[in-house]
Amino acid sequence: MIKVDISNVWGQLSLPDLLAVEQEVAAAHETLTNGTGDGNDFLGWLDLPVAEETEEMKRIRRAADRIRSNSDVFVVIGIGGSYLGPRAAIELMQGCNHNIGKGRGNPQIYFAGNTLSTRAWNELQRLLEGKDFSLAVISKSGTTTEPAIAFRALKWLLERKYGTDEANRRIYAITDPAKGALRQMATEEGWETFVIPPAAGGRFSVLTAVGLLPMAVAGMDIRQVMRGAFEAKEQYNRVRSFENPVWLYAGIRNLLYRNGKTTEIMASWEPGYKMMGGWWQQLFGESEGKDGKGIFPVSVEFTADLHSLGQMIQQGERNIFETMIRFDAPEQVAVVGSDVKNLDGLNYLAGKQLDFVDEQAYLGTLAAHVDGGVPVITVEMGELNDAKLGELFYFFELCCGVSAYILGVNPFNQPGVEFYKRNMFQLLGKPGYEK
Ligand code: PA5
Repeated sequence: MIKVDISNVWGQLSLPDLLAVEQEVAAAHETLTNGTGDGNDFLGWLDLPVAEETEEMKRIRRAADRIRSNSDVFVVIGIGGSYLGPRAAIELMQGCNHNIGKGRGNPQIYFAGNTLSTRAWNELQRLLEGKDFSLAVISKSGTTTEPAIAFRALKWLLERKYGTDEANRRIYAITDPAKGALRQMATEEGWETFVIPPAAGGRFSVLTAVGLLPMAVAGMDIRQVMRGAFEAKEQYNRVRSFENPVWLYAGIRNLLYRNGKTTEIMASWEPGYKMMGGWWQQLFGESEGKDGKGIFPVSVEFTADLHSLGQMIQQGERNIFETMIRFDAPEQVAVVGSDVKNLDGLNYLAGKQLDFVDEQAYLGTLAAHVDGGVPVITVEMGELNDAKLGELFYFFELCCGVSAYILGVNPFNQPGVEFYKRNMFQLLGKPGYEK
């Protein structure tokens, strides 16, 4: 199990405070698993993890093998929940620079359709020049503007390069099983398709083909990802007490919120975690931020951001708490070297493992922030591997569902997202959106 350490929140909260919310946490977890709360038609994600490999997963692996063998580059088109999960997974497991040195047999993976930037589009076109490529287009609704524009342009590039028949063999659509423009196009053009279950909302869809196809193309073992998620589903739904880290995390963050801590900073110590921070931000932000309520989720990367936001965290407005994510050190160690001249004065660290230095930075930061009045929750992940990744996804999804019900909001809708779209469509003159 993932470990949630709350020993660094006690300056601000007490054990009786925690025990006082136990019934609320229990009720929220019941509401979620019994399907009696608001948004209960979007609970399909709860049972996505399975012990045995499904036919859909086998098909995903076959498609991934095909893409790996015939493409130098794989472009994944999507936005929000149809984008953040796969990118987070790949960057956490393989690093932000995972594309370096990749090509046929292990294609580079780029993400598109998550911006309207012309510069980003021009850059992608340059990256694709002279390359064999395939596309995955991910959209549950099938009508989201950003991915639809990117897909139209990339499909055109693909058709121009290969002709219509081969282009159609290189397009994979991940969408609703029956509804939407993308489903209709896929049926008409004969693209291979994978399903986003109607009962799994976008930000809870990473354990469907949305996340699994890109992960498999990146060479990850999606059976292990699912195994970890399945074990998480079994364990974290069985234990109904504060021995369950889901209860601790969901309960404590709500208690802190009630005590004026309206911003949660998720701090990781791995550059590869940055997009995972983005996935978590969307999961909690879109699920909880409504009805005038919600903890504002912000993600940072230490030690880099200690040199930017560190000052604010240490001495700014005291409305924040931190959740620090820690992983075990990797097997391959790095050691600080010795230098005869020692002009940089670093010889006091010579022979020390880099991870030891990182650990002291973590402990020093933790103590400083707690002294500065910032309660810190530490999430100890243990070893980082494909199964742990699956566990982590399910863990945070479950925490989010429980936490939002404690907060008293529907975790599974996002009515606020429509406002910018309505204005944009009006300005763009989309039929049906006239003033
Ligand atoms: O979590 C959500 O539901 C959203 O972030 C969606 O995933 C996002 O808006 C993309 O929607 P779609 O998959 O319909 O293109």
